[in-house]
Amino acid sequence: PLVSMKEMLEKGKDNGYAVGQFNLNNLEYAQAILQAAEEEQSPVILGVSEGAARYMGGFNVVVSMVKALMDSYGTTVPVAIHLDHGSSFAKCAEAIHAGFTSVMIDASHDPLEENIDITKKVVELAHLHGVSVEAELGTVGGQEDDVVADGVIYADPKECKVLVDETGIDCLAPALGSVHGPYKGEPNLGFKEMEEILATVKVPLVLHGGTGIPTKDIKRAISFGTSKINVNTENQVAQAKAVREVLQEKPDLYDPRKYLGPGTEAIKQTVIGKMREFGSSQQA
Ligand code: G3H
Ligand code: ZN
Repeated sequence: PLVSMKEMLEKGKDNGYAVGQFNLNNLEYAQAILQAAEEEQSPVILGVSEGAARYMGGFNVVVSMVKALMDSYGTTVPVAIHLDHGSSFAKCAEAIHAGFTSVMIDASHDPLEENIDITKKVVELAHLHGVSVEAELGTVGGQEDDVVADGVIYADPKECKVLVDETGIDCLAPALGSVHGPYKGEPNLGFKEMEEILATVKVPLVLHGGTGIPTKDIKRAISFGTSKINVNTENQVAQAKAVREVLQEKPDLYDPRKYLGPGTEAIKQTVIGKMREFGSSQQA
């Protein structure tokens, strides 16, 4: 069923596993991720950035596509459709009215007071509709769509408690060294800060920039209260590699199903691997 993230993340935190947010870029991602979730009997979060939504034709198109695929597949696992890095109250409201079951309001680049104000407004509207809300503190490095950061700023554990207590959000993304896109060298995640936050913040934590984080760090983040991990680049790289190989092998190929199909399978296998790594397989 289509559900908010609230229960699935709390269950993950209570039972020591994380639920993957896998970003949708087009139809093939929705197909691959939903197939992977059903085969793995794993809850799943379909992340949709504003840029990706624009590319696919808008929030309504995304919701209709996901609902139709879930119908056609007979999906039985819990699925959340989540606005990734929502840039304003209006965008979050638009996504909620289009049928998204979860939204992130990313006001992490604003001063704390402004972040609190806008997040409170989003929570008030979202919770009226049974929609979950994610917010962020600090700055995730790298670039993803229109989300560009100039460097990593670690979230302040004290500010994390204030934001959660003042707004009623369902989960928190404290930026602690993660980066959108490929890492340059080993990730250097702030586990000390994560442990401090776990002691005072009772909501599940979110790790952005999941691509390229070693399993040992994934497991450590889960042990410190992280139960949502976002992955996009790793799926994109796997798809592109598969499509490139097919087209290099058969340069005269022009039927999109013949070169996109292998890419979809590559995304699916990558997602299955992540669900097993995060421990969400068989947890639906
Ligand atoms: O919000 C999206 C995720 O943080 C994606 O990060 O592309 O580095 O896996 P990633
Ligand atoms: Zn992100």
